[in-house]
Amino acid sequence: MSAAPATPRPVTLVPADGVGPEVTEATVRILEAAAVPIRWERVETGRDALARSGTPLPAEAIASIRRNRLALKARITAPIGAAFENPNVTLRKVLDLYANVRPVRSFPGHPSRHPDLDLVIVRENTEGEYAGLEHQVVPGVVESIKVTSARACTRIARFAFALAAREQRRKVTAVHKANIMKRADGLFLECCRAVAAEYPAIEYQELIVDNTCMQLVMNPYQFDVLMTQNFYGDLISDLCAGLVGGLGVVPGVNVGDEIAVYEAIHGDAPELAGKNRANPMTLLVSALFMLRQIGLAAYAERITAATTAVLERKTHTTQDLGGTATTSGMADAIITALR
Ligand code: IPM
Ligand code: MG
Repeated sequence: MSAAPATPRPVTLVPADGVGPEVTEATVRILEAAAVPIRWERVETGRDALARSGTPLPAEAIASIRRNRLALKARITAPIGAAFENPNVTLRKVLDLYANVRPVRSFPGHPSRHPDLDLVIVRENTEGEYAGLEHQVVPGVVESIKVTSARACTRIARFAFALAAREQRRKVTAVHKANIMKRADGLFLECCRAVAAEYPAIEYQELIVDNTCMQLVMNPYQFDVLMTQNFYGDLISDLCAGLVGGLGVVPGVNVGDEIAVYEAIHGDAPELAGKNRANPMTLLVSALFMLRQIGLAAYAERITAATTAVLERKTHTTQDLGGTATTSGMADAIITALR
């Protein structure tokens, strides 16, 4: 194993709501058992914070992430119909985490339709349909505004092409619906084309979002980097997770110029909360992704191997994975396999 840094790295931990505290606990215990040199700085958000301080996103939580520039985060509950914006989205905007990156690969030991698939979704994370601008025009008529700016489109295109170049990927696909949203998605494509021209060695393709969905199901191997606006990226993420075995496989990170918030790609799953039944891999995979990105890949490999061993035996996995274990029971099994 690579030499551990002298001082552990501080990382903000956001257990949040729903199944968050359970999967966070499991993930932290697994990382601690592997002696990963991280010092967690736990912050309160969500329901508890709302009750205590009147906001699901207290300033201390945001300040901690700003200070550490690195966070591992579960989901903050956003009641449908709440007067405030979904706090998970607010956090992305407040910290200007403009790119959402989701690498799509199978997990060794976990059944996948496409064991060899290796693609990455780069999703614009701050505007589009998530602008949060909705109003009632007259009773019975509501407008929801999709905001598309050249600045955000160019920024996400630059990010996607830089990632493609760095990871030696061959192709970038801009996913759009410019046949309908001629101006908004038209602007997105215009910005993407301008950036693509700076990268002649990388193939550039434009594909309409509905067709992209079908193509992904029929032959996902034709893709490499999928570059999308906010909402299309949300949909494509879950579709792609399904291709490689579900939400427990695909990690995610929200990135800005200086801050990275690693996050599970699912919602807060209130129906599972407090039951010790959630699959701990949903957050663990994002923690492993983080370790690989911050120079602690050796730890990630070791935890991956232990998790694979548990997945292959199956009995000590959660129900969704075909086993009978609880969340904490599966974490225990991974910890045992680490030894
Ligand atoms: C995701 C989730 C979020 C989103 C929700 C929880 C706000 O679905 O990260 O994909 O819509 O972006
Ligand atoms: Mg989603």
